[in-house]
Amino acid sequence: MSNRLNSTPNDLRAFWMPFTANRQFKQEPRLFVGAKDMHYTTHDGRQVLDATAGLWCVNAGHCRPKITEAIREQAGELDYAPAFQLGHPKAFELANRLVDLAPDGMNHVLYTNSGSESVETALKVALAYHRVKGNGSRFRLIGRERGYHGVNFGGISVGGIVSNRKMFGTLLTGVDHMPHTHLPAQNAFTRGEPEHGGDLATELERIVTLHDASTVAAVIVEPVAGSTGVLIPPKGYLQKLRDICTKHGILLIFDEVITGFGRIGAPFAAQYFDVKPDIMVTAKGLTNGVIPMGAVFVTSEIHDAFMSGPEHMIEFFHGYTYSGNPIAAAAALATLDTYKEEGLLTRAGEMASYWEDALHSLKDLPNVIDIRNIGLIGAIELDPIAGEPTKRAFSAFLKAYDDGLLIRTTGDIIAMSPPLIVEKHHIDEIFGKLREILKSNI
Ligand SMILES: Cc1ncc(COP(=O)(O)O)c(C=O)c1O
Repeated sequence: MSNRLNSTPNDLRAFWMPFTANRQFKQEPRLFVGAKDMHYTTHDGRQVLDATAGLWCVNAGHCRPKITEAIREQAGELDYAPAFQLGHPKAFELANRLVDLAPDGMNHVLYTNSGSESVETALKVALAYHRVKGNGSRFRLIGRERGYHGVNFGGISVGGIVSNRKMFGTLLTGVDHMPHTHLPAQNAFTRGEPEHGGDLATELERIVTLHDASTVAAVIVEPVAGSTGVLIPPKGYLQKLRDICTKHGILLIFDEVITGFGRIGAPFAAQYFDVKPDIMVTAKGLTNGVIPMGAVFVTSEIHDAFMSGPEHMIEFFHGYTYSGNPIAAAAALATLDTYKEEGLLTRAGEMASYWEDALHSLKDLPNVIDIRNIGLIGAIELDPIAGEPTKRAFSAFLKAYDDGLLIRTTGDIIAMSPPLIVEKHHIDEIFGKLREILKSNI
């Protein structure tokens, strides 16, 4: 422990931190120097209970020996193999394991290094697919208000979070957005899927009519929107989107960067909701968050459409230096083993009702204006302080950190998504601490 504490840096200026209030942070740094299972260790030697699985990614809990060991071994055996025109066995083994977990028919995988890159890859596959099929006029992409699809240009173009978009010029052209599905007046304090709002899917029909289906390539949504503050899809909504896409020959992309790998009680949300997309975007839980890696799943129909032309020619001009990196692939294989051995890909379903009851027990606390949940995801929406949006939730976050609890906030919403190894006593501790925080004057 003392070595770790001694490694605390004494100058924090050079690192421009991502999605962080840098000046606030550097006055009052919050550093993690260790982690094990459900807990982080802070630079000042305290234990912090992780109610967010890092950033929605450490699904099997921290420093799991099998994953750590696989990384060590792989680093000593084959550190890097060129990703283009060459390969290594584990990238293929992993792809086979992944398609076995995925919804039927999603038989091929492209690798990336993050959720943002997975999104860009999916959008490019969709556009190129229509082109190789002779439908090059299908160039439009449709996202949704309040959608989060990472931070690259495609992702922020189809995304719908204003602060992530407004600084960055014209973004991609040919993009439209469906309305979000957040209807607090009708759905506040719903447990699971809300009753109201399923018909908002018909807005897609209106947008398609406006532009004509022959110009629309793909629709992208998060099955459960996470980063925007946890928006659970209303009953029937996703199926309606599927039906409209099918009717018009539009590809449906599910961004499962958060929902993938067991977050809501099935390997993927597509299986939980029984709605099959054409393309599925994943990252985060693929390697338990330990090594950057993403995977984009596509149907055989999409993949096979590219497999024409001379055999010595590259079929799809896209990829990354680190696509399928050996160490990432080893980490992902060990992660899948851990999920399997411990039944973690369905565990959220087993814990969901305990989680839901504990979460909703905070309903009557001051400033709580909505509570939402599904699987092992929960959100508490707070009434913003007049004239100071986000401050109330950020205060709760800071207080929680001081009290040994890691939560996440977006706007005035507290979002939680613990590692899937969470036990009932952890859930009691999470909501016990939160109760005290919300009762105090934040
Ligand atoms: C739904 C969704 N898509 C994409 C991303 C971007 O992933 P990354 O931060 O790995 O680029 C995220 C990250 O939270 C996400 O929640």
